[in-house]
Amino acid sequence: MNIILLGPPGAGKGTQARHLVETRNMVQLSTGDMLREAKDSGTEMGKKVAEVMARGELVTDEIVIGLIREKLQGDAGGGFIFDGFPRTLTQATALNDLMKEEGKSLDAVIELRVRDEALVARIAGRSTCGACGEVYHDETKPQPADGKCSNCGASDFKRRADDNEESLRTRLMEYYKKTSPLLGYYYAHDLLKRVDGLADIKVVQASLAAILDG
Ligand code: AP5
Ligand code: ZN
Repeated sequence: MNIILLGPPGAGKGTQARHLVETRNMVQLSTGDMLREAKDSGTEMGKKVAEVMARGELVTDEIVIGLIREKLQGDAGGGFIFDGFPRTLTQATALNDLMKEEGKSLDAVIELRVRDEALVARIAGRSTCGACGEVYHDETKPQPADGKCSNCGASDFKRRADDNEESLRTRLMEYYKKTSPLLGYYYAHDLLKRVDGLADIKVVQASLAAILDG
Protein backbone atom coordinates (compact mmCIF):
# COMPACT_ATOMS: atom_id res chain seq x y z
CA MET A 1 0.00 0.00 0.00
CA ASN A 2 1.15 3.53 -0.74
CA ILE A 3 -0.12 6.18 1.66
CA ILE A 4 0.27 9.86 2.45
CA LEU A 5 0.33 11.07 6.07
CA LEU A 6 -1.05 14.58 6.04
CA GLY A 7 -1.16 16.97 8.97
CA PRO A 8 0.30 20.12 10.50
CA PRO A 9 3.75 20.30 12.13
CA GLY A 10 3.74 18.14 15.25
CA ALA A 11 0.67 16.11 14.24
CA GLY A 12 2.65 12.88 14.65
CA LYS A 13 3.43 12.03 11.02
CA GLY A 14 7.04 11.04 11.70
CA THR A 15 6.16 9.08 14.86
CA GLN A 16 3.53 7.02 13.04
CA ALA A 17 5.62 6.57 9.90
CA ARG A 18 8.46 5.05 11.93
CA HIS A 19 6.05 2.55 13.47
CA LEU A 20 4.74 1.52 10.05
CA VAL A 21 8.30 1.03 8.83
CA GLU A 22 9.06 -1.24 11.80
CA THR A 23 5.83 -3.25 11.71
CA ARG A 24 5.01 -3.41 8.00
CA ASN A 25 8.30 -3.08 6.20
CA MET A 26 7.04 0.08 4.54
CA VAL A 27 9.43 2.73 3.21
CA GLN A 28 9.22 6.20 4.78
CA LEU A 29 9.78 9.09 2.38
CA SER A 30 10.08 12.20 4.56
CA THR A 31 11.06 15.27 2.56
CA GLY A 32 11.84 17.04 5.87
CA ASP A 33 14.39 14.32 6.77
CA MET A 34 15.86 14.38 3.25
CA LEU A 35 16.27 18.18 3.41
CA ARG A 36 17.86 18.00 6.89
CA GLU A 37 20.29 15.36 5.61
CA ALA A 38 21.22 17.62 2.68
CA LYS A 39 21.74 20.48 5.13
CA ASP A 40 23.93 18.39 7.48
CA SER A 41 26.06 17.05 4.63
CA GLY A 42 26.71 20.63 3.48
CA THR A 43 25.68 20.14 -0.17
CA GLU A 44 24.89 23.25 -2.26
CA MET A 45 21.22 22.41 -2.09
CA GLY A 46 21.48 21.88 1.67
CA LYS A 47 23.00 25.33 2.17
CA LYS A 48 20.29 26.86 0.00
CA VAL A 49 17.41 25.36 1.98
CA ALA A 50 18.80 25.68 5.52
CA GLU A 51 17.64 29.25 6.12
CA VAL A 52 14.27 28.70 4.49
CA MET A 53 13.65 25.72 6.77
CA ALA A 54 14.84 27.50 9.92
CA ARG A 55 12.31 30.26 9.21
CA GLY A 56 9.57 27.65 8.79
CA GLU A 57 8.80 28.48 5.16
CA LEU A 58 8.32 25.90 2.44
CA VAL A 59 11.23 24.93 0.20
CA THR A 60 10.55 25.23 -3.56
CA ASP A 61 8.38 22.61 -5.24
CA GLU A 62 11.15 21.93 -7.74
CA ILE A 63 13.62 20.83 -5.05
CA VAL A 64 11.28 18.52 -3.14
CA ILE A 65 9.77 16.98 -6.27
CA GLY A 66 13.33 16.22 -7.43
CA LEU A 67 14.07 14.48 -4.12
CA ILE A 68 10.93 12.34 -4.33
CA ARG A 69 11.48 11.47 -7.98
CA GLU A 70 14.82 9.83 -7.11
CA LYS A 71 13.33 7.75 -4.28
CA LEU A 72 10.31 6.47 -6.19
CA GLN A 73 12.56 4.50 -8.47
CA GLY A 74 13.85 2.50 -5.51
CA ASP A 75 12.42 -0.55 -3.75
CA ALA A 76 9.00 0.11 -2.20
CA GLY A 77 9.10 -2.77 0.33
CA GLY A 78 5.59 -2.99 1.83
CA GLY A 79 4.70 0.32 0.17
CA PHE A 80 5.65 4.00 0.44
CA ILE A 81 4.66 6.31 3.27
CA PHE A 82 4.82 9.92 2.12
CA ASP A 83 5.54 11.96 5.25
CA GLY A 84 5.46 15.75 4.80
CA PHE A 85 4.99 15.44 1.05
CA PRO A 86 3.06 16.63 -0.90
CA ARG A 87 2.56 20.05 0.73
CA THR A 88 1.21 22.04 -2.24
CA LEU A 89 -1.19 21.29 -5.08
CA THR A 90 1.75 21.44 -7.51
CA GLN A 91 3.50 18.72 -5.48
CA ALA A 92 0.31 16.64 -5.36
CA THR A 93 -0.16 16.66 -9.13
CA ALA A 94 3.55 15.95 -9.63
CA LEU A 95 3.24 12.95 -7.31
CA ASN A 96 0.29 11.63 -9.35
CA ASP A 97 2.35 11.87 -12.52
CA LEU A 98 5.46 10.28 -10.97
CA MET A 99 3.44 7.40 -9.52
CA LYS A 100 1.84 6.77 -12.90
CA GLU A 101 5.24 6.72 -14.58
CA GLU A 102 6.36 4.07 -12.08
CA GLY A 103 3.14 2.04 -12.52
CA LYS A 104 2.14 2.72 -8.91
CA SER A 105 -0.86 4.36 -7.28
CA LEU A 106 -1.96 5.91 -3.99
CA ASP A 107 -4.21 3.84 -1.73
CA ALA A 108 -5.04 6.32 1.03
CA VAL A 109 -4.35 9.82 2.29
CA ILE A 110 -4.60 9.91 6.07
CA GLU A 111 -5.14 13.20 7.83
CA LEU A 112 -3.88 13.34 11.44
CA ARG A 113 -6.13 15.92 13.07
CA VAL A 114 -4.71 17.86 16.02
CA ARG A 115 -5.70 21.24 17.53
CA ASP A 116 -3.19 24.10 17.19
CA GLU A 117 -2.77 24.46 20.98
CA ALA A 118 -1.67 20.82 21.25
CA LEU A 119 0.82 21.28 18.40
CA VAL A 120 2.69 24.01 20.27
CA ALA A 121 3.15 21.73 23.30
CA ARG A 122 4.26 18.83 21.12
CA ILE A 123 6.84 20.83 19.21
CA ALA A 124 8.17 22.50 22.36
CA GLY A 125 8.73 19.10 24.02
CA ARG A 126 10.19 17.23 21.07
CA SER A 127 13.69 15.80 20.80
CA THR A 128 15.10 13.27 18.35
CA CYS A 129 17.86 10.68 18.53
CA GLY A 130 20.63 11.98 16.27
CA ALA A 131 21.77 8.43 15.48
CA CYS A 132 18.53 6.64 14.55
CA GLY A 133 15.83 9.33 14.35
CA GLU A 134 13.67 7.96 17.20
CA VAL A 135 11.30 10.75 18.30
CA TYR A 136 10.84 11.64 21.99
CA HIS A 137 8.69 14.07 23.93
CA ASP A 138 9.55 15.54 27.32
CA GLU A 139 6.13 14.61 28.71
CA THR A 140 4.49 11.93 26.58
CA LYS A 141 7.59 9.92 25.58
CA PRO A 142 10.55 11.02 27.72
CA GLN A 143 14.15 10.16 26.91
CA PRO A 144 15.22 7.08 28.95
CA ALA A 145 16.61 7.87 32.42
CA ASP A 146 19.98 6.29 31.54
CA GLY A 147 20.43 8.91 28.78
CA LYS A 148 20.56 6.25 26.04
CA CYS A 149 18.15 5.98 23.11
CA SER A 150 15.75 3.06 23.72
CA ASN A 151 15.96 2.12 20.05
CA CYS A 152 19.71 2.24 19.31
CA GLY A 153 21.53 2.98 22.59
CA ALA A 154 23.19 6.20 21.38
CA SER A 155 23.36 9.28 23.63
CA ASP A 156 22.92 11.99 21.03
CA PHE A 157 19.59 13.75 21.45
CA LYS A 158 18.84 16.79 19.28
CA ARG A 159 16.28 19.57 19.11
CA ARG A 160 15.40 20.99 15.70
CA ALA A 161 16.39 24.52 14.62
CA ASP A 162 12.81 25.22 13.47
CA ASP A 163 11.19 24.03 16.72
CA ASN A 164 10.78 27.50 18.21
CA GLU A 165 7.65 29.59 18.63
CA GLU A 166 8.28 32.02 15.76
CA SER A 167 9.13 29.35 13.15
CA LEU A 168 6.24 27.22 14.33
CA ARG A 169 3.86 30.14 13.71
CA THR A 170 5.19 30.39 10.13
CA ARG A 171 5.01 26.60 9.65
CA LEU A 172 1.38 26.59 10.74
CA MET A 173 0.55 29.51 8.42
CA GLU A 174 2.23 27.71 5.54
CA TYR A 175 0.22 24.59 6.38
CA TYR A 176 -3.14 26.35 6.39
CA LYS A 177 -2.41 28.42 3.28
CA LYS A 178 -0.67 25.91 1.03
CA THR A 179 -1.15 22.37 2.38
CA SER A 180 -4.70 22.27 3.78
CA PRO A 181 -6.22 22.69 0.26
CA LEU A 182 -4.92 19.15 -0.37
CA LEU A 183 -7.61 17.83 2.00
CA GLY A 184 -10.30 18.89 -0.50
CA TYR A 185 -8.22 17.63 -3.41
CA TYR A 186 -7.84 14.12 -1.98
CA TYR A 187 -11.42 14.05 -0.69
CA ALA A 188 -12.52 14.66 -4.27
CA HIS A 189 -10.30 11.74 -5.34
CA ASP A 190 -12.01 9.56 -2.71
CA LEU A 191 -8.72 8.88 -0.93
CA LEU A 192 -9.07 10.95 2.25
CA LYS A 193 -9.34 9.24 5.67
CA ARG A 194 -9.32 11.10 8.97
CA VAL A 195 -7.76 10.02 12.24
CA ASP A 196 -7.85 11.70 15.67
CA GLY A 197 -4.20 12.64 16.11
CA LEU A 198 -4.85 13.87 19.65
CA ALA A 199 -5.32 10.33 20.91
CA ASP A 200 -2.54 8.36 22.59
CA ILE A 201 0.27 7.26 20.21
CA LYS A 202 -0.82 3.60 20.46
CA VAL A 203 -4.46 4.49 19.75
CA VAL A 204 -3.39 6.41 16.63
CA GLN A 205 -1.32 3.36 15.59
CA ALA A 206 -4.44 1.19 15.91
CA SER A 207 -6.54 3.63 13.85
CA LEU A 208 -3.94 3.58 11.08
CA ALA A 209 -3.77 -0.22 11.19
CA ALA A 210 -7.56 -0.39 10.80
CA ILE A 211 -7.35 1.77 7.68
CA LEU A 212 -4.45 -0.20 6.20
CA ASP A 213 -6.10 -3.55 6.88
CA GLY A 214 -9.66 -2.44 6.11
P1 AP5 B 1 9.04 18.36 8.28
O1 AP5 B 1 10.27 17.70 8.76
O2 AP5 B 1 8.13 17.61 7.38
O3 AP5 B 1 8.27 18.89 9.56
P2 AP5 B 1 6.72 19.16 9.87
O4 AP5 B 1 5.74 18.90 8.80
O5 AP5 B 1 6.73 20.53 10.46
O6 AP5 B 1 6.35 18.05 10.82
P3 AP5 B 1 7.12 17.65 12.09
O7 AP5 B 1 8.26 16.75 11.76
O8 AP5 B 1 7.43 18.89 12.90
O9 AP5 B 1 5.99 16.90 12.89
P4 AP5 B 1 5.40 15.42 12.79
O10 AP5 B 1 4.01 15.51 12.30
O11 AP5 B 1 6.33 14.49 12.07
O12 AP5 B 1 5.35 15.09 14.34
P5 AP5 B 1 6.25 14.08 15.23
O13 AP5 B 1 5.90 12.68 14.92
O14 AP5 B 1 7.68 14.48 15.21
O15 AP5 B 1 9.39 19.73 7.54
C1 AP5 B 1 10.33 20.63 8.05
C2 AP5 B 1 10.59 21.74 7.03
O16 AP5 B 1 11.17 21.18 5.84
C3 AP5 B 1 9.37 22.52 6.52
O17 AP5 B 1 9.00 23.57 7.41
C4 AP5 B 1 9.87 23.01 5.17
O18 AP5 B 1 10.73 24.12 5.32
C5 AP5 B 1 10.68 21.84 4.66
N1 AP5 B 1 9.89 20.86 3.89
C6 AP5 B 1 9.69 19.56 4.18
N2 AP5 B 1 8.91 18.96 3.26
C7 AP5 B 1 8.60 19.91 2.34
C8 AP5 B 1 7.81 19.91 1.15
N3 AP5 B 1 7.16 18.79 0.74
N4 AP5 B 1 7.69 21.07 0.47
C9 AP5 B 1 8.32 22.20 0.86
N5 AP5 B 1 9.10 22.26 1.99
C10 AP5 B 1 9.23 21.13 2.72
O19 AP5 B 1 5.61 14.42 16.67
C11 AP5 B 1 5.82 15.67 17.30
C12 AP5 B 1 5.99 15.48 18.83
O20 AP5 B 1 4.77 15.01 19.38
C13 AP5 B 1 7.04 14.43 19.20
O21 AP5 B 1 7.73 14.87 20.35
C14 AP5 B 1 6.23 13.16 19.49
O22 AP5 B 1 6.87 12.32 20.47
C15 AP5 B 1 4.92 13.74 20.01
N6 AP5 B 1 3.75 12.93 19.64
C16 AP5 B 1 3.51 12.37 18.42
N7 AP5 B 1 2.30 11.75 18.41
C17 AP5 B 1 1.77 11.94 19.66
C18 AP5 B 1 0.54 11.54 20.28
N8 AP5 B 1 -0.38 10.82 19.61
N9 AP5 B 1 0.32 11.92 21.57
C19 AP5 B 1 1.25 12.66 22.23
N10 AP5 B 1 2.43 13.05 21.72
C20 AP5 B 1 2.70 12.70 20.44
ZN1 ZN C 1 18.48 6.09 18.57
